[in-house]
Amino acid sequence: MVRSHGILLLIIRTLAIIHIVQAQSQQGFISLDCGLPANEPSPYKEESTGLQFSSDATFIQSGKTGRIHPTLASRFLKPYTTLRYFPDGTRNCYNLRVEKGRNHLIRARFLYGNYDGLDNNPTFDLYLGPNPWATIDLHKLVNGTREEIIHIPTSNKLQVCLVKTGPTTPVISTLEVRPMGNDSYSTQTGSLNLFFRLYLSESKTTLRYPDDVYDRQWTAYFWREWTQITTTSNVGNANDYEPPKAALATAAIPTNASEPLTLEWSNTDKPDDQYYLYRHFAEIQDLRSNETREFNMVWNGELMSSDPLVPDELEITTILSLTPRTCAKGECSFQLKRTNRSTLPPLLNAFEVYTVIQFPQSETNENEVVAIRNIEATYGLSRINWQGDPCVPSQLMWDALNCSHVDISTPPRITSLNLSSSGLTGNIAAAIQNLTLLEKLDLSNNNLTGEVPEFLGNMKLLLVINLSGNDLNGSIPQSLQRKGLVLSLEGNPRLFPSGSPEKTHKKTLLVPIVASVGSVAILIAALVLYLVLRKKRQPTVEVVLPPPSRPTVNVTNANSPEPSIETKKRRFTYSEVIKMTNNFERVVGEGGFGVVCHGTVNGEQVAVKLLSQSSTQGYKEFKAEVDLLLRVHHTNLVSLVGYCDEGDHLALIYEFVPNGDLRQHLTGKGGRSVVNWGIRLRIAVEAALGLEYLHIGCTPPMVHRDVKTTNILLDEHYKAKLADFGLSRSFPVGGESHVSTVVAGTPGYLDPEYYHTGRLGEKSDVYSFGIVLLEMITNQPVIDRNRRNSHITQWVGSELKGGDIAKIMDPNLHGDYDSRSAWRALELAMSCADPTSARRPTMSHVVIELKECLVSENSRRNTSRRTDSLSSTEVSMTFDSGMIPRAR
Ligand SMILES: *[C@@H]1O[C@H](CO)[C@@H](O)[C@H](O)[C@H]1NC(C)=O
Ligand SMILES: *[C@@H]1O[C@H](CO)[C@@H](O)[C@H](O)[C@H]1NC(C)=O
Ligand SMILES: *[C@@H]1O[C@H](CO)[C@@H](O)[C@H](O)[C@H]1NC(C)=O
Ligand SMILES: *[C@@H]1O[C@H](CO)[C@@H](O)[C@H](O)[C@H]1NC(C)=O
Ligand SMILES: *[C@@H]1O[C@H](CO)[C@@H](O)[C@H](O)[C@H]1NC(C)=O
Ligand SMILES: *[C@@H]1O[C@H](CO)[C@@H](O)[C@H](O)[C@H]1NC(C)=O
Ligand SMILES: *[C@@H]1O[C@H](CO)[C@@H](O)[C@H](O)[C@H]1NC(C)=O
Ligand SMILES: *[C@@H]1O[C@H](CO)[C@@H](O)[C@H](O)[C@H]1NC(C)=O
Ligand SMILES: *[C@@H]1O[C@H](CO)[C@@H](O)[C@H](O)[C@H]1NC(C)=O
Repeated sequence: MVRSHGILLLIIRTLAIIHIVQAQSQQGFISLDCGLPANEPSPYKEESTGLQFSSDATFIQSGKTGRIHPTLASRFLKPYTTLRYFPDGTRNCYNLRVEKGRNHLIRARFLYGNYDGLDNNPTFDLYLGPNPWATIDLHKLVNGTREEIIHIPTSNKLQVCLVKTGPTTPVISTLEVRPMGNDSYSTQTGSLNLFFRLYLSESKTTLRYPDDVYDRQWTAYFWREWTQITTTSNVGNANDYEPPKAALATAAIPTNASEPLTLEWSNTDKPDDQYYLYRHFAEIQDLRSNETREFNMVWNGELMSSDPLVPDELEITTILSLTPRTCAKGECSFQLKRTNRSTLPPLLNAFEVYTVIQFPQSETNENEVVAIRNIEATYGLSRINWQGDPCVPSQLMWDALNCSHVDISTPPRITSLNLSSSGLTGNIAAAIQNLTLLEKLDLSNNNLTGEVPEFLGNMKLLLVINLSGNDLNGSIPQSLQRKGLVLSLEGNPRLFPSGSPEKTHKKTLLVPIVASVGSVAILIAALVLYLVLRKKRQPTVEVVLPPPSRPTVNVTNANSPEPSIETKKRRFTYSEVIKMTNNFERVVGEGGFGVVCHGTVNGEQVAVKLLSQSSTQGYKEFKAEVDLLLRVHHTNLVSLVGYCDEGDHLALIYEFVPNGDLRQHLTGKGGRSVVNWGIRLRIAVEAALGLEYLHIGCTPPMVHRDVKTTNILLDEHYKAKLADFGLSRSFPVGGESHVSTVVAGTPGYLDPEYYHTGRLGEKSDVYSFGIVLLEMITNQPVIDRNRRNSHITQWVGSELKGGDIAKIMDPNLHGDYDSRSAWRALELAMSCADPTSARRPTMSHVVIELKECLVSENSRRNTSRRTDSLSSTEVSMTFDSGMIPRAR
């Protein structure tokens, strides 16, 4: 292997120095030597790499340690000589801490090495959290195998699980995690699965840490019809990919200079795989003035880019595809062909190929995982099966649970907990109340003591509670005297029967109403708004609201809740709600005020928003608002179909909008597709039309008060519909828990003038809409405290000084937009988000501007074509896989 020598080595770029310092500390590296015996030192330094390996004992609770057969030990590095095997349980998981949102290289190695003397190579599955990652079949792989991905974790926790799929016992030798830069290895969807990673050299050495700061492993590869060229000069590797300098210091050229350089492979097992290619080039020959090296890249016979490449001298150029590529029938070919004016043959230094791997299944709701872990700890439960994700995959769901499965992109929720006869002692665990969708709870036949907690009665979806056969005491809370609840308490000799039936009866007739001074004031304000607007019909009218944070006053209203709403036909009983949602079977979301379930009314799909009593500030406001909202109809507004207000049960029934919200379609979260610029503009026009209607088309006019990307829902044709308008008057919004305050809106979207003046009017919606537009343009978070300019308007403002629209636009658009329409939309967004409300346009003006942007974009779209991107600035980036291409 050729290494760089000489004086040039001293001239290293700043970027590279930083990384070398980091690399020496192996910052964030997790290097687990699985099954390292407890009596051996940990961590220890692996001699050939200098990596610090540690025992895996603190990362997993199960499994046993083993050691490969002594006759094989000398052939492998120390970390591969021990292993952990899992004779018990179906799924066994490692729990690792990672950084959410950052790219990580995750690598696991498996070597059986006849550790048990049975000479029986195992087969099993590997999972990443709830998602299948790979099937490991060690038959014939006497030297073991490896799985490696580059993946962005969706939380700070990562679970790597081994799942038994047959009679053999899963094993694992090492598990390694390397945090990487954020600006490299991006995919449109999914993660990257290593197919091969080569540097073209006749040497036999595999390069890894410390040559590679991220500890990627580069296999030396060469073909007999190639000629090797090398340099002893330093080759600059400072870009986002930073392959090892040693990998760039050698390259292959075709021996016959007229022939292309060709790499071919076949992947007939998975002919539909999508590929991401990373090609690293550096000119390492001293060219004379009359010599040129220029070549084109060809994929499966087709030119990948219209611009030929001329590699920079002793500096890296990395070429990557922004969109994944496919091969017909799994037969792939990559070629470098010199151009007519080139006097030298093409060259290639290093080459990485990844396939796309999808991890679409959402993990169980994070709060519920915390709650069930808390319950497990409270009772000291140790069940071999309680590993990995509690709910998914469903065939591996934890014992004692049942879960709701809406769809693959919605986090499952726990609906049933059965810990009967589990030897539980102590009180009923408070964490149970955090399983908010629980329908069945069975804690019977344990030794539970203490009182029956009040919170059980407040869990509105609970249908079955079995606490029989324990040693509970005290009286049964009133809140458990609820219709439709099956409560079993027999066999608790010290439990009092509940209060006198007469008292109970009275209590249930009273409907306590908690109204705050604030909400009464809002009601008055709304009336003022109504009267003023009806008179003047001008969209700029604003209304004075009381300042936030007022003490609440409890007012008990003893009147029976006789319906005063005219629209009785829209009123549903609670039992009708239960029926339409099939007993709240399918939860489709969670809003600021409660859960949302899917339902059906007369064959039409509906979304049923269940409001907990505590989330409403007042019953009268509820009715007044419902009354108003039932009369609003516009194609770009989610319409209210009906409501339920039976005793404690409050629910709003909306038209069902099936395709998620705009935020998901900007970030790609929840398995949603990222929408292109043309569709974004259309969605913006439609949302603006909805708002315009609220402002000037409705009688009385309305202010939405909570315009944000998560309140713009999309139907199956990506038609936009605004949700949650007008509700903010009697409900806190945005999941905020300040029940007594009346601050409408969501932080970041809220009109800054409101703070100074206390005025909230149509122009406040225009401000929020401006923020939504900025999000659609940039896909930046509205507020990011880690960003120097934390608010999105500040960020855009500072980026605008650079004048480069490409730096502002959402990178997921991959430059595929008409820049005139982009500039115009950006200017419009910034004028909407003007701190001074008087300078903001009206929604009617916004609609006109956006329509013109859309026309401009649509005319471009009809004439454009996509090409491979060529990024060639200075700052541009196996020992056992068996997947090695063949060359020609
Ligand atoms: C990478 O992204 C994560 C999450 O967005 C962020 O916390 C981290 O600071 C970023 N790191 C770098 C080096 O930009
Ligand atoms: C396993 O590795 C040894 C060298 O360590 C090599 O000689 C042998 O061919 C390898 N076996 C297989 C099946 O790859
Ligand atoms: C080199 O390749 C060209 C074109 O394929 C061919 O015509 C020529 O004979 C080859 N030369 C040698 C020495 O093989
Ligand atoms: C370039 O120039 C050198 C002498 O200066 C000559 O020997 C060589 O043949 C030339 N190469 C080409 C491709 O013209
Ligand atoms: C390059 O050569 C090929 C055939 O030798 C010819 O068809 C093509 O037009 C040439 N291209 C240029 C740009 O001269
Ligand atoms: C879990 O719930 C589903 C319906 O949500 C039901 O079909 C299934 O029988 C339940 N399983 C258990 C073990 O209760
Ligand atoms: C809980 O599990 C026990 C058996 O383990 C079963 O008898 C009981 O019916 C279950 N409870 C519920 C509510 O399904
Ligand atoms: C319930 O969840 C909330 C938020 O996650 C947490 O603050 C609280 O401590 C939890 N309650 C219990 C009893 O675990
Ligand atoms: C409760 O505890 C007693 C001893 O403290 C034990 O004998 C009994 O079996 C326990 N009951 C259950 C249901 O676990």
